[in-house]
Amino acid sequence: MNDSTLRVEVSDGVGLLTLDRPKALNALNSQLIGELNQALDRLEADPAVGCIVITGSARAFAAGADIKEMVDLSYPQSYLGDFFAAADRIAQRRKPLIAAVAGYALGGGCELALMCDFIYAADTARFGLPEVTLGVMPGIGGTQRLTWALGKSKAMEMCLTGRQMDALEAERAGLVARVIPADALLEETLQVARAIAGRSRQSVLMIKESVNRALEIGLAEGIRFERRLFHSLFATADQKEGMQAFIDKRAAQFGHR
Ligand code: CAA
Repeated sequence: MNDSTLRVEVSDGVGLLTLDRPKALNALNSQLIGELNQALDRLEADPAVGCIVITGSARAFAAGADIKEMVDLSYPQSYLGDFFAAADRIAQRRKPLIAAVAGYALGGGCELALMCDFIYAADTARFGLPEVTLGVMPGIGGTQRLTWALGKSKAMEMCLTGRQMDALEAERAGLVARVIPADALLEETLQVARAIAGRSRQSVLMIKESVNRALEIGLAEGIRFERRLFHSLFATADQKEGMQAFIDKRAAQFGHR
């Protein structure tokens, strides 16, 4: 096994995953995707963790899927091996994932950020789907998630030209939730992650599930789904505590189980 390509730290309810293949600008090879999934499995199972942050280096969040690993892949190998199926598991997590992106988020790196629940970008961040320049196309959900995030015209332009978008344009377009000066990116992201981790776990997970459902089903069905989850929260101690704490003008103490 090669050296680890991922650093994992847990503190104050937050799991921090740092992509760590600096020589390849954090290009996503099978080892890194495998290590990401293993770490996410552990963090999902750890009751002390309420929110997960994925970040890279100052130079690159991730410069794409690993081109050197893909260059000789044949169609049968790709199809029969269901290449990239493992990457889909990253998006199937129940706990919130925040991407803290500095530098390049290109191709699979941009798609990894899009698999997270929201993106905070350093002012140095650059987003793009350059697969068209390699004779392929986005293969980890980019054509779908970028279209949901930006609308058809801008997503189509990005995918067909492969051009990069800077952080301010990405914020204006709705791809990123907030732009933060590069030197403050990680601390501000962790602060938000800690706040989310401190909320009612049930409430947070159901909100994530419900917002994601909005992308999968029609509005009327989505609102009914949201309403049923909302009703079910009134069976929880966290709802009683949260609302009573507001009325009592004190901080809520949630159970987290
Ligand atoms: N895969 C493998 N290696 C990569 C890589 C990638 N996606 N991106 C960068 N690297 C490697 C480079 O080969 C180089 O390695 P060597 O030192 O061994 O030559 C090292 O990282 C540093 O890269 P550069 O010398 O190119 O750095 P730069 O500052 O001149 O350029 C860059 C930076 C503009 C990001 C450039 O590296 C680049 O264009 N990278 C490729 C971006 C790309 O096309 N991504 C899409 C990949 S395909 C994909 O992701 C498919 C999908 O949908 C999942």
